[in-house]
Amino acid sequence: MTVLSLALREGTAEAHTLAEHTAFMKCFVRGLITPSLFRQFLANLYFVYTALEAALASATSDRLGAMYFPELNRSGQLAEDLAFYYGDNWRDQITPLTATRVYLSRIHDLAQSNPLLLIAHSYTRYMGDLSGGQALSKIVRSQLALPEGKGTAFYEFPALPTPEDKKAFKQRYRETLDSLGLDEDAIARIVKEANFAFALNCNLMHALEPELKTTIGDQVWQSVVIENQPSRREHPRPAAVAV
Ligand code: HEM
Repeated sequence: MTVLSLALREGTAEAHTLAEHTAFMKCFVRGLITPSLFRQFLANLYFVYTALEAALASATSDRLGAMYFPELNRSGQLAEDLAFYYGDNWRDQITPLTATRVYLSRIHDLAQSNPLLLIAHSYTRYMGDLSGGQALSKIVRSQLALPEGKGTAFYEFPALPTPEDKKAFKQRYRETLDSLGLDEDAIARIVKEANFAFALNCNLMHALEPELKTTIGDQVWQSVVIENQPSRREHPRPAAVAV
């Protein structure tokens, strides 16, 4: 019998490698991110989490309801960061990129037509934030020389302050996934959707890459992008969604 948490981990391993190896992430981990790019990244994630969290909070099925953990919510944390980077009128200054609109359309469509598949979107974002996201926070704090306690609320989980808390929570999250009692077909559809969620995230990052390339210059860009290239398979492109 297939176990959902394992199916997700194994079934998205390749997508995870591709996400880690986007030029955006490679530059991020090498400390090449700028305040302009970081705030745009956070702004686009704000739209994604606001849509996802609204959809999860209004879940009417028991199974999806079991996967709603308000202590994971990121939209409030992101709002705090956006006020720091853009100022009090941050809401008037941010708009979603086209790639983000496609991502939002998918979340809205699933909320209407197939809410159980939102589990894949929850998994892709929150498990990532609780994992690699923690290292990214340290990198960006040092790169942007951020003042104490400012600018990385996105990576902080007030309800899970220590690494042990996060580790225990991830275990609980996996156990909850596995207790849903989903059949093979539902598991396969959730894994497929999680791969799509990874692709949507990659496309969001790709959309920020032209500015990144201009900022760091062709030579640095080339040296970072060709280093440790994973097997060059194209990300599945999200199906065209009217925006
Ligand atoms: C440079 C970028 C990244 C690094 C260094 C990184 C690193 C990691 C690490 C070390 C883990 C394993 C944690 C553990 O086993 O407890 C992990 C898990 C995970 N990451 Fe990433 N990650 C990156 C980017 C991403 C991105 C862009 C996403 C999705 C948008 C993502 C989604 C996930 C998910 C869903 C898991 C959980 C896997 C599982 O245990 O089922 N990661 N990441």
